[in-house]
Amino acid sequence: MGIYTDRVLPRLIDAACGSRQAAVLRRRVCAELAGTVVEIGFGSGLNVPFYPPGVTRVDAVEPSDSGWRLARSRLSVSAVPVLRSGLDGQALPFADATFDAAVSTWTLCTIPDPDAALREVRRVLRPGGVLRFAEHGLAPDEDVRRWQRRLEPLQRRVAGGCRLTRPIPDLLTGAGFTLAELDVFYEEGTPRFVGAMSLGVAVAPSGSDRQESPSVKAERASATQGSASATQDSASVTQDPSAEDSPS
Ligand SMILES: C[S@@+](CC[C@H](N)C(=O)[O-])C[C@H]1O[C@@H](n2cnc3c(N)ncnc32)[C@H](O)[C@@H]1O
Repeated sequence: MGIYTDRVLPRLIDAACGSRQAAVLRRRVCAELAGTVVEIGFGSGLNVPFYPPGVTRVDAVEPSDSGWRLARSRLSVSAVPVLRSGLDGQALPFADATFDAAVSTWTLCTIPDPDAALREVRRVLRPGGVLRFAEHGLAPDEDVRRWQRRLEPLQRRVAGGCRLTRPIPDLLTGAGFTLAELDVFYEEGTPRFVGAMSLGVAVAPSGSDRQESPSVKAERASATQGSASATQDSASVTQDPSAEDSPS
C-alpha cells in the first residue's frame, strides 16, 4: 500500500464520513441494534458512539490498520466491547449463525466483491437476523446516474476503490435478504452523485430458504432442468440399442 492509501486516505474518509449529516444517518442505523453485532468495513469507528447499550459485543472487520488506529479515541470511551476480529468482509472468520445483527455503512461501495461480502454476512447472521445499512450507490434519477458513470473512474482512483453505481437494494435481495425497511434519498449537504443513499433493514432468511441465495437457487434450478433433460436424453439413447436388440 502506498502512503496515500495507507495513511492519507483513512484520514480523509474519517473527515468526509464524520459529517454532522452522516451522524444523523448513523444514529438511525444503530438505534435498534441489540445482542451480538458484526460490522463490516468498520473504518475509524464512526458508528461506535451510536451503539446502544443493548449491544453486548461488536466484532469489527476492517483491513486498514490506520482506520483501526483512528478508532482508538472512540473505542476508549465506548461502553460496548469492540474487537477487531477480521480483515476481509468477503471471507468472514466466524461460524454460521453467530450474530444477531450486522452493520454496514458506506462500505458496500468499496468492498471489491459486494456479493461475496453480503453472502458472508447472511451466513454469519442467525436465521431472521438483521443487517442494518446506510450505503451510497446508484441514484434513482437518470441525470444523476449519467454523472455517476462519468465520475466513477476518478472516484475509484482517489477514494480507495469506491464505486458510485452499485445498486444497493438489488445487491441485498440478490444475496437472499428480504428488505424489511428501505429509505432511498439524497443525503443532505452532499453532491447527489455521491449522496444517493439507501438506508434500511435487511433480514436474513430462516429455515430452508437459508441455504441458498436467489442467484444460487436459479443456477441450481437450471442445472436440475439441464440434468433432467440430460436424463431424458440418455434414457432415449439407452432405449435405442435395446430396441435394436429386441426380437421384433
Ligand atoms: C468509505 S469507508 C467507510 C468506513 C465506515 N464503514 C464508515 O461508515 O465510516 C469504506 C471502508 O471499507 C473498508 N474495506 C475495504 N475493503 C474491505 C473489505 N474487503 N472488507 C472489509 N472492509 C473493507 C475500507 O478499509 C474502509 O474502512
